[in-house]
Amino acid sequence: MASNAKPTLAFIGVGKVGTVLARLWSDNGYRVVALYNRTPQHAKTLAQYIDAPCTQSAIEAVQQADITLLTVADDTIESVANLLTQQANGDNLKGKAIIHTSGAHGKDLLNALAHHGALTGSLHPVFPFADVATAMQYLPGATFAVETDDAILQTWLTEMVTALQGNTMVIPPGQKSLYHCALTIASNYTVTLYAIAQTLLAELGADQQAADTALNTLLNATVNNLVEHGARDALTGALVRNDVGTIQAHLEALQEQDREVLEMYKQLARLTLPLVAARGVSIDALANLLRKEDSNATNYS
Ligand SMILES: NC(=O)c1ccc[n+]([C@@H]2O[C@H](COP(=O)([O-])OP(=O)(O)OC[C@H]3O[C@@H](n4cnc5c(N)ncnc54)[C@H](OP(=O)(O)O)[C@@H]3O)[C@@H](O)[C@H]2O)c1
Repeated sequence: MASNAKPTLAFIGVGKVGTVLARLWSDNGYRVVALYNRTPQHAKTLAQYIDAPCTQSAIEAVQQADITLLTVADDTIESVANLLTQQANGDNLKGKAIIHTSGAHGKDLLNALAHHGALTGSLHPVFPFADVATAMQYLPGATFAVETDDAILQTWLTEMVTALQGNTMVIPPGQKSLYHCALTIASNYTVTLYAIAQTLLAELGADQQAADTALNTLLNATVNNLVEHGARDALTGALVRNDVGTIQAHLEALQEQDREVLEMYKQLARLTLPLVAARGVSIDALANLLRKEDSNATNYS
């Protein structure tokens, strides 16, 4: 391959992530030369969009391409990697790059392939793939975490991200779990918090559509504030106003309604105090209230 040519790509696994990335890179000048999937029909469906051949086995896909993306579920990556080393049947994988797209795991899941001479790495799109159409539209511009020891592969992956107008973030070796934990808190648990708020409003008898509209506007405005002002200055509400009486009323309401949510609320309030202090607001009365509530809870249990 000429040093300035774009690497060719193969995908093993054409679920949400495999489908979106194969289509976007194909649309942006990369040649997808092989697709392999557990259910062959799903690979054929994708092949209609990008005119890529489907292979009968995973190793055939690897043999066709410069870079193979293992876009299978996290728990399947290592077994596919092991299968590939068996299917390679002693053939040298030297010069072939094989990566996965998991956020939680490092490239060590591909050690068996590295021992056979493959260049390995991981490339995680920081994006929630709820469905293909939405991700096709909004993924360009997203950040990707890149992890590899190989300079050529790092360059290839960085250029692939740039082709999608994205940014790269380099994760130190062995830190993928902590990295993924941070993203999970920001994305998945925002959904959890939203669902808890929906439930509380429903328990009040609020009309669901009206409640969803209220929450959607609130959440959109919060995200806009975060984007415009950053976490410290985006914080609004009773804590940053030092409205201790309002927080006390929240705790009493939850005490009646849902003890588990009460514990979560107190913990989130505690974790918010450093942001409140950073705004120059005294946190003494709030911290005292939370401490008092904790000792009451211990006495009653
Ligand atoms: N979803 C997200 O938001 C997201 C975001 C960033 C990164 N990721 C990562 O991207 C990877 C893929 O996630 P996904 O959400 O795209 O998963 P997915 O929608 O469940 O797709 C997995 C695909 O792998 C195929 N597959 C399963 N076992 C296989 C095997 N042994 N050989 C070949 N193909 C096999 C499945 O085939 P069938 O057609 O037979 O089911 C399916 O097409 C994961 O590592 C995930 O952590 C996901």
